Amino acid sequence: MLSTRVARRSDIDAIVGFTTGTFEWGDYVPVAIGSWIDDPNGVVMVAVADDDKPIALGRAVMLSPTEAWLHGARVDPEHRGQGIAGEMAVVLTDWTKANGALVTRLMIEDSNEASRRHIAKTGFRRTATVHRGYRDLAAGESGVTGNGRPRRRSPLVARPGRRSEADIVVASWLASESGRSLRGLVARGWTFHRLNADDIRDTSDGTMVWDVGGATVLSREVDGSFDIDLLDASESDADDILSAMVDVAIDHGASHFSVWGADYDWILAAFTRNGCESFPSGIYALSS
Ligand SMILES: CC(C)(COP(=O)(O)OP(=O)(O)OC[C@H]1O[C@@H](n2cnc3c(N)ncnc32)[C@H](O)[C@@H]1OP(=O)(O)O)[C@@H](O)C(=O)NCCC(=O)NCCS
Repeated sequence: MLSTRVARRSDIDAIVGFTTGTFEWGDYVPVAIGSWIDDPNGVVMVAVADDDKPIALGRAVMLSPTEAWLHGARVDPEHRGQGIAGEMAVVLTDWTKANGALVTRLMIEDSNEASRRHIAKTGFRRTATVHRGYRDLAAGESGVTGNGRPRRRSPLVARPGRRSEADIVVASWLASESGRSLRGLVARGWTFHRLNADDIRDTSDGTMVWDVGGATVLSREVDGSFDIDLLDASESDADDILSAMVDVAIDHGASHFSVWGADYDWILAAFTRNGCESFPSGIYALSS
């Protein structure tokens, strides 16, 4: 019979055993699992068979006092199709509610059919679509585009934004086209929470605030990757804002560039014109 419990360090070998080849490219779970188990801000739950050996896992983490995030859902390929991921979602959301979450969210790539079918059987509902744009920045890219033509700098220049105007930045994100489409959410890496003034004021996680022609962009640099967590652009200026941020990434010597964008054709067109490939994901939410 199947039961669920909090993961222990002694589960790591079994978890690595069924997660190493999850996707074509591999999986990050074997690398991350130890730090997830040790992290007091979150919990890793496992489903275990009679021998107490894990055959599935999932992680929940609190992103703010009232917002939680689920990720890392993995079921041993031998045990898929039995609704185990659904049972994990229930124990994980029990944990998030007990820890004060008023809303729990997660993200699923649109191409992940099994995951979308699993979540359709839970209480989670899709609340937003977000596009991940990404591209490499070749060494010494400053002058040349991928098609060999000289890359022109954007007519706009990104300048450090004023953190003292945090409340105004939040209010304008909530009222903007992109902000409304994304339900006021902002990314931090691969998680999303509702933008608040501390995201603008607090620099401790490396967030940089930019003013680009009056629009706000939030970015962070992680291991040579220049990542845009919030892009407050409109149809008329999206190309130039994105181009200005690629300029900054190149100037900072980044080797990789990524950006989260709202679900508009003109955002996707701006991605393409700035050399970014992209893929869509859904953000799903469950209120407590
Ligand atoms: C996504 C995942 C967690 C779902 O777990 P699960 O316990 O198998 O979920 P379910 O039993 O509800 O099955 C969901 C869907 O998987 C598919 N499925 C069924 N049997 C399957 C099998 N043996 N192998 C693969 N997929 C199967 C079906 O489409 C099923 O939908 P259906 O019930 O409407 O037919 C699991 O497939 C998995 O670990 N995938 C790889 C990791 C991953 O993609 N994680 C999610 C990242 S967001």
